[in-house]
Amino acid sequence: MSQPGVSAGPELPRMPRNKATRCLFVSLALALLLLVTSANAQTSALLWRSNWETPKPDPRSLNAVAQVFGAGCGSGCPNATLGVVQAAARTGTRGLKVVVFKGSPEASRVQMVTPVFLLSRGMSYTYCLWARSSSDELYGNRALNLDMMQAVTFATVQSLPIVVSRNWTQFCMGITELPTSFPTLNFNASSTSYLWSLNLAGSGDRIEFNFDDMTLTGRPNNLDATIMSKTAARIEQHRKGNFTLQFKGDRGVALPARMVTSFSLTQIKQSFPFGSAIQPDAINLLDPEMRPWFLDTTASMFNSIVPNSMFQWPEFEYAKGVFEDKQEMLLGPMYLGFAEQNGMIMQRGQALEWLTTDFGFGAHWSKQDGCEAYKGYLQTRVIRDVTAFKGKFQMYTVWNQLLHDRDWGDQCQLFSRTVKEAFWWAHAADPNATLCLNDFELIDGERWASMLQMVRQWQREGVPIHCIGIQAHLTPDLDPSVIQFRLDQLALTGLALHITELTLRTVSQPSPRFTGSEQQQADALVKYLSLFYSHPAVKGITLWGWWDTGHPVTNGGLVRTDQTMKPAALAVQQLWSNTWNTSITETNATIVLDADGGYAFRGFYGTYRYNVRLTTGQRLTGVVDFPMPRPLLAGVTPSQTVTLSFPTVTVRSPPRPPSPPSVA
Ligand SMILES: *[C@@H]1O[C@H](CO)[C@@H](O)[C@H](O)[C@H]1NC(C)=O
Ligand SMILES: *[C@@H]1O[C@H](CO)[C@@H](O)[C@H](O)[C@H]1NC(C)=O
Ligand SMILES: *[C@@H]1O[C@H](CO)[C@@H](O)[C@H](O)[C@H]1NC(C)=O
Ligand SMILES: *[C@@H]1O[C@H](CO)[C@@H](O)[C@H](O)[C@H]1NC(C)=O
Ligand SMILES: *[C@@H]1O[C@H](CO)[C@@H](O)[C@H](O)[C@H]1NC(C)=O
Ligand SMILES: *[C@@H]1O[C@H](CO)[C@@H](O)[C@H](O)[C@H]1NC(C)=O
Ligand SMILES: *[C@@H]1O[C@H](CO)[C@@H](O)[C@H](O)[C@H]1NC(C)=O
Repeated sequence: MSQPGVSAGPELPRMPRNKATRCLFVSLALALLLLVTSANAQTSALLWRSNWETPKPDPRSLNAVAQVFGAGCGSGCPNATLGVVQAAARTGTRGLKVVVFKGSPEASRVQMVTPVFLLSRGMSYTYCLWARSSSDELYGNRALNLDMMQAVTFATVQSLPIVVSRNWTQFCMGITELPTSFPTLNFNASSTSYLWSLNLAGSGDRIEFNFDDMTLTGRPNNLDATIMSKTAARIEQHRKGNFTLQFKGDRGVALPARMVTSFSLTQIKQSFPFGSAIQPDAINLLDPEMRPWFLDTTASMFNSIVPNSMFQWPEFEYAKGVFEDKQEMLLGPMYLGFAEQNGMIMQRGQALEWLTTDFGFGAHWSKQDGCEAYKGYLQTRVIRDVTAFKGKFQMYTVWNQLLHDRDWGDQCQLFSRTVKEAFWWAHAADPNATLCLNDFELIDGERWASMLQMVRQWQREGVPIHCIGIQAHLTPDLDPSVIQFRLDQLALTGLALHITELTLRTVSQPSPRFTGSEQQQADALVKYLSLFYSHPAVKGITLWGWWDTGHPVTNGGLVRTDQTMKPAALAVQQLWSNTWNTSITETNATIVLDADGGYAFRGFYGTYRYNVRLTTGQRLTGVVDFPMPRPLLAGVTPSQTVTLSFPTVTVRSPPRPPSPPSVA
């Protein structure tokens, strides 16, 4: 191993050879140990790039690597060749061509590795490469494993399946926090050495890959350790608007302040969707005596709901063409009807499809007739159901967990085309619907880099994607400054971020449980809600259930099975009905109206009830909306004015200042 910062020059790569699983690999770059800690700018700095243009690759070293093929691993050896050729270039004149003639079950036997980088804590890094499967006769569109490994132990820090298709695609993997648990050997604790490796041999037989333009970028995390102390100010800035209520009497004449003896404004609803997953079956199965309590509690705590699994394809259309019962149940009075009746503002269809083979997805009828038939069924499903639920679901998770669950997608080569087409189908069926991807480890892991990269690529292609769903199955102890950093990264897409499945757990295996105190749960929930609500890109928060009965996390609900509220429920109520609520009372001594009868105030976006008493004895009351502007311009919250006309109020005008107030 070279010393940090010392260039070793062209040489044969020496890693990964651990535990007999790696008997050979393809090294594409020089096996240098690179010091990449020098990014001083606030923005991302390019730390390393390899595009096979310069230095001119040394044919001897490539030959030497090629000669290693087949050595030392007997008949299980893969057979592959590699070369730096013009035909494999994405940019410039050269790119790397790898042909795997014969795959190997041991994917790591042919792998592309980067040099070893010395990475520093306090930085975030993104490694990217461009890849395609170049030849039409050869089969592409298969998931390969991109691994980030600690260089000395070859322990995998994180792994990402990537799908290489015939079109050039950029793949990226990011890291915000270097694991502290890894041995640092001769390096000190502020930095450790890492490399990225792409395993190729597992791809199958006769596959040609092209690779070009590998980059490593880094930026100081600038993690803001004080972020929690700023949430209140950020909420004040991003969640409120300047509003004016204009009072006009008969003939549109402005009401003077002297006519108003009392005035109150009560916020009765938030514009910001705060919801919970509610399974329609669960409501139906409830003891009828319990049902009103369950529905009332839901409506009093939330302004948005999402069905847990009833809209998932295997449950929604469990046999081909049989979906009316579920459609009726969802559209009926106990579900979307209930939401509508209670003025709920955001219902999400979760999810149009999910490429896992678990949870009945693998056995679903749509997958029994082959890939081509499946694509047709999927198109029918998306168009039919998005049309049927138009205006009922305002938002859809089009694909659930696309970064994680790929089984069926790999089998049917859906990634280069079909996954994006589904967005087009949904968009055509309901152009008003907000269309999302939904995944985990986006803020509690490092998948943000892959999501960012994939979404940006889709945006360049014009795919109608409008939001990123962040599942947020969190433990209470996560560092808010790291979450903030990852939210900022995802926000670079310009898309709305929705927290879609918030749960709190302390234990994940064998099944999720919350084992901390109820107060700890309440504190963690307030911490995360405040952080999310203060982030301007976050456009909604949904909890994955609120009652311990039927909750996916044992003891994870806000309300105990005996229907009593835990501190977490009280804390949430306190936030929405008090901390994040604008309610105002004025008397005739304090109220100020401008010459147009305008009453100006700053408040949370939402719906307000006003109550005005006049010297005439008249009492005026009603409801007025100051909605969150969509899209919210960066940092600018335009003011909104609502005019209230009271033609029955006689206003003597113009009032003659010296004369005493006298009103009919
Ligand atoms: C590798 O595959 C190529 C193409 O099929 C063949 O020509 C070559 O002999 C094989 N080499 C080995 C060592 O099997
Ligand atoms: C740790 O390593 C860095 C980079 O090599 C160096 O700048 C720093 O002085 C070292 N710190 C200690 C405590 O040895
Ligand atoms: C909104 O009102 C606040 C004070 O209430 C004021 O500081 C701010 O400048 C106003 N913003 C706009 C855009 O008018
Ligand atoms: C590859 O890119 C071309 C040109 O942009 C496009 O027409 C084609 O549909 C793409 N193919 C796939 C499989 O995405
Ligand atoms: C989209 O929503 C708006 C407002 O609700 C409605 O007026 C419009 O007709 C809708 N457009 C379509 C294509 O459904
Ligand atoms: C906001 O506060 C007022 C006054 O306390 C209360 O009546 C109202 O219900 C609260 N709004 C919400 C949405 O909780
Ligand atoms: C406010 O109204 C009360 C009667 O409701 C009246 O006695 C008082 O003088 C008024 N004060 C002002 C400042 O107009």
